[in-house]
Amino acid sequence: MKQTATVARIAETPEFPVYLRHAKLKAWVHEIAQLTRPDAIYWCDGSQQEYDRLCDEMVRAGTLIRLNSEKRPNSFLARSDPDDVARMEDRTFVCSKTKDESGPNNNWVAPAEMKATLKKLFDGCMRGRTMYVIPYSMGPIGSHIAHIGVELTDSPYVVINMRIMTRMGRRVLDQLAAGGFFVPCVHSVGMPLAAGQNDIPWPSNKSEKWIVQFPEEKSIWSFGSGYGGNALLGKKCFALRIASVMAREQGWLAEHKLILGIESPDGKKDYIAAAFPSACGKTNLAMLVPPAAMKGWKITTVGEDIAWIKPGKDGRLYAINPEAGYFGVAPGTSTESNPNAMATLHKNVIFTNVALTPDGDVWWEGMTKTPPAKLIDWQGRDWTPDCGRKAAHPNARFTVAASQCPSLDPEWENPDGVPISAFLFGGRRGDGIPLVYESFNWDSGTYAGATMGSETTAATTGAVGVVRRDPMAMLPFCGYHMGDYFNHWLQIGAKLNDPPRIFNVNWFRLSKDGKFLWPGFGENMRVLRWAIERCRGQANAMQTPVGWMPRFEDLDWRGLENFSRGQFAELMSIDTAQWRKELKEHDALFEKLQSRLPRKLQLEREMLGLSFA
Ligand code: GTP
Ligand code: SPV
Ligand code: MN
Repeated sequence: MKQTATVARIAETPEFPVYLRHAKLKAWVHEIAQLTRPDAIYWCDGSQQEYDRLCDEMVRAGTLIRLNSEKRPNSFLARSDPDDVARMEDRTFVCSKTKDESGPNNNWVAPAEMKATLKKLFDGCMRGRTMYVIPYSMGPIGSHIAHIGVELTDSPYVVINMRIMTRMGRRVLDQLAAGGFFVPCVHSVGMPLAAGQNDIPWPSNKSEKWIVQFPEEKSIWSFGSGYGGNALLGKKCFALRIASVMAREQGWLAEHKLILGIESPDGKKDYIAAAFPSACGKTNLAMLVPPAAMKGWKITTVGEDIAWIKPGKDGRLYAINPEAGYFGVAPGTSTESNPNAMATLHKNVIFTNVALTPDGDVWWEGMTKTPPAKLIDWQGRDWTPDCGRKAAHPNARFTVAASQCPSLDPEWENPDGVPISAFLFGGRRGDGIPLVYESFNWDSGTYAGATMGSETTAATTGAVGVVRRDPMAMLPFCGYHMGDYFNHWLQIGAKLNDPPRIFNVNWFRLSKDGKFLWPGFGENMRVLRWAIERCRGQANAMQTPVGWMPRFEDLDWRGLENFSRGQFAELMSIDTAQWRKELKEHDALFEKLQSRLPRKLQLEREMLGLSFA
């Protein structure tokens, strides 16, 4: 007999259970199959043939549309269900033993109760489908900063996305060997098929959506959604929520940050990690092309969404990008705003919820100044420029391998990471917050990151454009009490002999008539240059109540000579009334986190209060 009695009725990729030496992994896969009852278990090997075969199957099923192979070779368009278009923060739970441990920043249900709910939902939920086993590594395989996860899913769309976003397949099983640690992740679209029932292009569950993390046992369960961070469980669920818990236990940081390299004309290179909330410009900054007039300055890309950061033996911080691909926001991306992203997207891309052109290519708002005369919109309907609807969903995304990015940093897969010289924090703030200021030290920088505010975007369901506190861009991603997270930051900094400098930026400040005061995008290079020269002790600044700020003459204006001192003054102004209001909002946040708020941050707040008294 080839198989054990309990799984006798579930067909399985024949060579894998034999090949696999990890008894615990094997047992867990079969246990989940017994619960979810798929028709078959398929172990992903991660090969190109496997990827191509799954894509072909999904084209036949109507889940994918193959794009014009001359304009966009080996690329596909997927259209999700209109109710399954973004992360759902209100359906996301962090179930620590106690509610207090998860903190006011997370939805919580007692683990036993949540497990009972999940057990019912997952019971038989994969009937009529294949369960795919996806072994994946977050970070270069074998790196001492990397970690392994295994996702079980009934969505082939998830499989192909995970192959781009992570290092996936047989080589990860080899790395796991007989007993390696892995984070178990179970995902189902939550739509079992009865015998003879036809599938639909984007299966999901209309009424039940649950994205659940169990920090103590480090497991992830996701039900009902097939989209992005809800379903590609290596990304937000593992690399941020679960990893932030592991990082706290083990003395490192798991952050919602891009990582970029910055090189000056003399060939000297530094690395910067920057936190911005979802859809606030991480991908743009990570791939920035400096203004031509700033000759000799270069930006290279290590990561554009997540950073895992560990203290090194030399007392500096070292960062890896745990991902292998980009799941980036499409709308707004153009050859002007992000030429490197556009070049990355020439081939081998999965587009989700963008518009389709009559010749089988893609389009989204902001890609070209004049929209095409006719399109098929993200919901498959005819579209014309005057129809009053958006052609692409505002959270439409591309999935593409990092290796295709022209600005990719040569060290991007260095298993030891890259040394970080500076951290940036930034929100989307139309009001009050200046273009840039440098915090006085690690503790005041931690305060600035902790009290960061930002307008909500289409990356998550719910209201858009409302300012909320989003500490370090981690509000939806910190897997434990935010007060403890601030404390962890303070402790990490205290142990470093040369902690990165901390800068705060805002590309989104508006004039009284509602226009962006700062041109942004490539011009942000001027701010990056000043920041890195501050780190190198080469740039001047003036002292203000909130930190160090560049004066007009401290920035490089070559190529932007028409930007006036008056405009700069407006962009950098610190209005006392506005900041008093801002400080009240810091108080409201601290009030919520009171029970675990570090005393040091309270002191920082008191000092700021004196400055604005
Ligand atoms: P996630 O992938 O959701 O975590 O977000 P992200 O931070 O990578 O988002 P992304 O870089 O794709 O942000 C896209 C949005 O930011 C688009 O609306 C861009 O137009 C806008 N954006 C990026 N950089 C700038 C800038 O310098 N100025 C202005 N005004 N907008 C910018
Ligand atoms: C974000 O929302 O911050 C993202 C996209 O990076 S998702 O993976 O869908 O969470
Ligand atoms: Mn993100």
